[in-house]
Amino acid sequence: MTPEIKHTGLKTWISEVVKLTEPDKVIVCDGSESEYQSLCLELVQAGTFVRLNPKHRPNSFLARSDASDVARVEDRTFVCTTQRDDAGPNNNWMEPAKMKETVYALMQGSMRGRTLYVIPFSMGPVGSPLSQIGVELTDSAYVVVNMRIMTRIGTPVLDALGTDGKYVKCIHTVGAPLSPSQKDVPWPCNPTVKYISHFPEENLILSYGSGYGGNALLGKKCFALRLGSTMGRDEGWLAEHMLILGAESPRGEKKYIAAAFPSACGKTNFAMLIPPKTMRGWKITTVGDDIAWIRPDKDGVLRAINPEAGFFGVAPGTSLRTNQNAVKTISANTIFTNVALTPDGDVWWEGLSDTPPEGLIDWTGKPWTAASGQKAAHPNARFTAPARQCPSIDPLWESPEGVPISAFIFGGRRATTVPLITETRDWTHGVYWAATIGSETTAAAIGATGQVRRDPFAMLPFCGYHMGDYFQHWLDIGKAVIACGAKLPPIFGVNWFRRENGSGPFIWPGYGDNARILDWILRRVDGVVDAVESPLGLHPRYESVEWAGADVSPEKFTEMLRVDPAEWSTEIQAQGEFFATLGDRLPAEFRQIHGRLGRAFGAPSSSAGLETGV
Ligand code: OXD
Ligand code: MN
Repeated sequence: MTPEIKHTGLKTWISEVVKLTEPDKVIVCDGSESEYQSLCLELVQAGTFVRLNPKHRPNSFLARSDASDVARVEDRTFVCTTQRDDAGPNNNWMEPAKMKETVYALMQGSMRGRTLYVIPFSMGPVGSPLSQIGVELTDSAYVVVNMRIMTRIGTPVLDALGTDGKYVKCIHTVGAPLSPSQKDVPWPCNPTVKYISHFPEENLILSYGSGYGGNALLGKKCFALRLGSTMGRDEGWLAEHMLILGAESPRGEKKYIAAAFPSACGKTNFAMLIPPKTMRGWKITTVGDDIAWIRPDKDGVLRAINPEAGFFGVAPGTSLRTNQNAVKTISANTIFTNVALTPDGDVWWEGLSDTPPEGLIDWTGKPWTAASGQKAAHPNARFTAPARQCPSIDPLWESPEGVPISAFIFGGRRATTVPLITETRDWTHGVYWAATIGSETTAAAIGATGQVRRDPFAMLPFCGYHMGDYFQHWLDIGKAVIACGAKLPPIFGVNWFRRENGSGPFIWPGYGDNARILDWILRRVDGVVDAVESPLGLHPRYESVEWAGADVSPEKFTEMLRVDPAEWSTEIQAQGEFFATLGDRLPAEFRQIHGRLGRAFGAPSSSAGLETGV
């Protein structure tokens, strides 16, 4: 049954957008299973979806995108604030009126020949005080079915919105109107013009030209991170690019940890990790794999929710060895995008098995052989799967009040320089550490690969305002927690990706063995294990890590924790260069820490010069 919209503001806005974009039809989504099924059927008929063999993947589909539309487009992503400086050097900027003029002109008639779907959605459990409502108007049925997995959509959300509730306006069009006689293509998009534009001052998102992932599923990066971070700044909370996991120790305690890693650092694997069998009594549960909204409660406890309801994970590399829980999660009711198809109607991607099956069809729809030298699945191929199907899903994952966070972890992908694990000295030092993380290579970002990209808090592509103000906001949250008389969670830095001699094999086994580091972190949180000083912060003693069943010698461990003064001198200089791009909005505390580190490692005085004026 078509849900009734009782919100007059919403009704007016929908009529305005209909007038602008001129769709053939308007459908208000109720979010029901039957609506989902009929849209999937339409997508099969349109050639967008291939129904997978229900014997292997019940109720699952494969979509192949246009070859030009395979990832987020950071260079076409804009934050439109009245003052250019409020968007900061970390965002592309255009004056709001100019951007609206540009995008609305493109949207004129852009839904001709298509259906406009109204998707009321909630980021976070419907009705939670930590949740927020959005309404996405889109001409893509693919977006509707993905949004139904990734968020909570439909009638319950309209009910929660009531007659005058607050919501974020999201307009999305693939930018490919159809003339009356024109046959549609399986993946409509605009191959040349794309705009992913955000208007934080009026809670508006306009997305034109792409049908893929974060460009089109506007609840995720656009709302939950870019607009969310700005709301958090104004309202005293945090919207973060973080997984949330629960860790149950053999001591019978359960604690929650939030962890940020840049894209393509195995966040989903970490969120679902299975500890080695030898670590008896340990259990890891999953609250979320990508985004956390975190707010101090009245006692100053930082409470986090996962605003999403599904996983939009990178498929390549996901296997029973790397992430058994993800493999089980995607065994049914899953949408795959840009993976390869097996002759018996199942999916495949690089890393799923050592030997590719015979007779694959690649992500472009062509027969594939290993001899072609091409990848069968696109490196940024994705699965969209309901979080509730995850075997490790935490019992409190939908708790409206969120879970209490006991520690934060920040990581990056660094072949050299950064030790396996470091406990920072205090909140300010932890915020500095998080601000300076970096990573090599991201499949989700278009651009050069293999270089270190400074990615503070893993938020560089997702922070909706000036990065310097964002650092200050983290420092201010720390002060707010302390003012409530609460203890701040300690902050840790990790690097699973250090290589032997900088370019050899990874030194740390990773995956399940990361539970050994989690165990040490939790014992530090409990104050039951000591740590040793390093010039960077605190490191574990070899003897205090749980090594049962592992093959890591004390020498190897020393190598993983090594702080090389020459590497750090270069690192501090690079940090200084990055900070310099943020100009005078850098917190004064950072200049002091940077100066201290620069002197400790003998970095050239030009980089320690950031201290000037403090
Ligand atoms: C993602 C990303 O898609 O971080 O989650 O790029
Ligand atoms: Mn992400």
